Amino acid sequence: MLKQKLLTQPNVHSLDEVISSFEIDSAIKKIIDEQTGATRLQEAMAYATLKGGKRFRPLLIKASGDLFGIPFKDLVSVAVAVEILHAYSLVHDDLPAMDDSDTRRGQPSCWRQFDEATAILAGDTLLTLAFETLASAPLSAPVCLELVTKFARACGGNGMAAGQMLDISQEHGGNLEKIEYLQKLKTGELIAFCCEVGAIVAQAGPEVKKSLKETGYKLGLIYQMTDDFLDLKGDVASIGKPTHQDLDKVTIVSLLGYDKARVMIDSYKNEIKDALVGFGSKAPLFEEIVEWVVVREG
Ligand code: IPE
Ligand code: IPE
Ligand code: MG
Ligand code: MG
Ligand code: MG
Repeated sequence: MLKQKLLTQPNVHSLDEVISSFEIDSAIKKIIDEQTGATRLQEAMAYATLKGGKRFRPLLIKASGDLFGIPFKDLVSVAVAVEILHAYSLVHDDLPAMDDSDTRRGQPSCWRQFDEATAILAGDTLLTLAFETLASAPLSAPVCLELVTKFARACGGNGMAAGQMLDISQEHGGNLEKIEYLQKLKTGELIAFCCEVGAIVAQAGPEVKKSLKETGYKLGLIYQMTDDFLDLKGDVASIGKPTHQDLDKVTIVSLLGYDKARVMIDSYKNEIKDALVGFGSKAPLFEEIVEWVVVREG
C-alpha cells in the first residue's frame, strides 16, 4: 500500500504527518453519513468510497499543498471532493456497459454488490456531492470558484468523461499520440488538477500553475501506464481488481511493449523530478509519490 511504502522512507514526512493526511477517511464518512435520503443509495455510496482505495489523489493534493506551505487541514474538502468523484468514476467504469468488472478493491464491484441501477445512482450522487463539497470548502470565494471551474473541466466533456468515451470507442487506430491524448483526458486531467491545487489555493501566478499542471499530466500518464502494466501482469490480490480487463483495448503499454514503455516512464519521471527542483525542501512527499508510481505493484 502507498501509505506503508511512504512510511518506510526516512526522507519523507513524519509518521504523524502522513497518517494525519488520512483524516480523509473520516471526512468522507462524515459527508456520506449526511446523505440520508435513501438508505440503499447511502449504503452503496459508503461501499464505493470507504472500503479501500489507495487515496493517491488526496495524497497528491497534500503534496501539492506542501509545495506552498498549505496545511492539509485546509485542503481536506478538496481532497474529499476529488476522492469521491474518483470513486464515482470507478463505480461507473466497472458497470457491465463499460469495463464489466466483477471486483474492485478486493471485493465485489458496486454493481455486483448492489445492482446496476443502484450503482448508476450511487455514481451520479457521488459526482454531485463532490461539487457540493468543493463549493462549500472553507476557502475564499475566488479560490473556491477557480477550484470548482477547473475541477469541472477536469471531469467533463474535455476531461475524464470524454477520455472514458474515447477509451470505450477505441477509435484511435493504434496511433500513439491519439492514445496519449485519450489517457490525458481519462486519467491525466484529474491528476493534473490535484497537482495544481496547491498553486490555486496559494494564489500563485499563472506560470507556476501551468508548470504544475504539466507535471500533473506527466504523472497522470505514468500512473495510467503503470495501471495498464498491472492489468497485464499484476497480482490480482495486490491490485484488488481483475487483470486482463483491457486486453481488447490498445494502450501505450500494449502498443510500445514493456521495455519501451518502461523507458518512457523513466523519462517522464525524470522530467517530473526536474520540475520539482525549484521547490527544494518542500517537495519530498511529491518526489516520493513519483518514485512510488513507477514501481507500484498495487
Ligand atoms: C484506478 O485508480 C483507475 C485509474 C485511473 C488508473 P486508482 O489505482 O487510484 O484506484 P484506487 O482508488 O486506489 O482504487
Ligand atoms: C479507468 O481506467 C479510468 C477512470 C477514469 C475510471 P481503467 O478502466 O484502466 O481503471 P481500472 O483498471 O478499472 O481501475
Ligand atoms: Mg476503463
Ligand atoms: Mg476499468
Ligand atoms: Mg486499468
